[in-house]
Amino acid sequence: MLRVFREVLAPACLSSDSPRFFAFIPAAATKAALVFDTVVGASSICATSWLEASGAVYAENEALRYVADLAGMGPDAGGCFVSGGSAGNLSALVAARETATTRRGDRPARWRVAVGEESHSSITSALKVIDCDPLVIPSGPAGRMNGDSLRAVLSADADPSSICAIAATAGTTNAGIIDDLAGLAAVARDRDIWLHVDGAYGGAALAAPSVRDRFTGIELCDSLVVDPHKWLYAPFDSCALLYRQPELARAAHSQHASYLDPMRMEGEWNPADYAYHLSRRARGLPFWYSLAVYGTDAYSEAIEQVLATTRAAAARVDEVDHVSLIRDPELSVVLFRRPGWDDAAYYAWSRRLLDEQIAFILPTRWEGEVVARAVFLNPNTTLEIFDEVLDTMR
Ligand SMILES: Cc1ncc(COP(=O)(O)O)c(C=O)c1O
Repeated sequence: MLRVFREVLAPACLSSDSPRFFAFIPAAATKAALVFDTVVGASSICATSWLEASGAVYAENEALRYVADLAGMGPDAGGCFVSGGSAGNLSALVAARETATTRRGDRPARWRVAVGEESHSSITSALKVIDCDPLVIPSGPAGRMNGDSLRAVLSADADPSSICAIAATAGTTNAGIIDDLAGLAAVARDRDIWLHVDGAYGGAALAAPSVRDRFTGIELCDSLVVDPHKWLYAPFDSCALLYRQPELARAAHSQHASYLDPMRMEGEWNPADYAYHLSRRARGLPFWYSLAVYGTDAYSEAIEQVLATTRAAAARVDEVDHVSLIRDPELSVVLFRRPGWDDAAYYAWSRRLLDEQIAFILPTRWEGEVVARAVFLNPNTTLEIFDEVLDTMR
């Protein structure tokens, strides 16, 4: 059967850890994390509760602490690992809505969530699931949701008390832009609104000193998601979901049943209490193991290396004549255009590069225009590989 996988199934799948994978958000799990994922899979651990898996949950909590400390969320922050940013965003917004209902004492006709124009599609999807409406805040030319625009929209709004959360993005998927987290946090504080930060992709760059100041204000968030299966070099599927006050998430998510309640002991940490799930794989362990094997400095170095390659790639786009840079990258996404190409030319180029196994790179839209988008994440992606891609656009 392994032969069937090797010869039939695997060739019909793309390897998202290829250094030539520039599409969506790539992945690049470390060897240690991959090996330990196999151990987790073979261990039959159900990491729902402290009772069932205190060893695994203890280690997962150490990995969560690393992320919480990077963000400066304070000593009480905690949460659990869920399957991905989508599940993390949904769980955090449920906690925000339930907290708002408790504080307000009733429910408005419709709860709403303030979102940026560039927020991830999973936020829209989560709002559909929880039956909330988005209040879209215009981004302006910088492409980021900022405190002044949010304040202006809320001041003009007929029912601002129906806003149960602000969903900010720390690293938009399309362009790697970080919202004005300090400005948004100030509005959240003044109006007593929950601030959620979606750092599923970009949050990893908290570990990179060269860009850390762009995240100022993140320390004031009420909830945060960062996906180790993206830029923290863990295998799928793994999202670190954190709350400043975990007891608020517990109040929203704890499930009760006569056969479940005996698992609950005062002071014990049950991952099931912090998201909409119950049974769960100890999916934070491969990340924990990898952090322990390589050390946190190795993570900072890898992320800095990716940022340096991204900057060099953007400079190269600027340098050569046949392509032009759309904006300086804030994190690790380079948007660029090929003057003279229509939409069909971008899609045909992308298809050809995949067919010829040169690279997997997909076009996107920026301000209505179809453009090329390259996402860097794998430390083994070199400028030489990117040069090869640029050469195919001549
Ligand atoms: C900013 C952001 N949020 C959320 C998600 C969704 O994460 P997942 O695919 O792990 O559910 C992504 C995925 O790319 C993302 O970039």
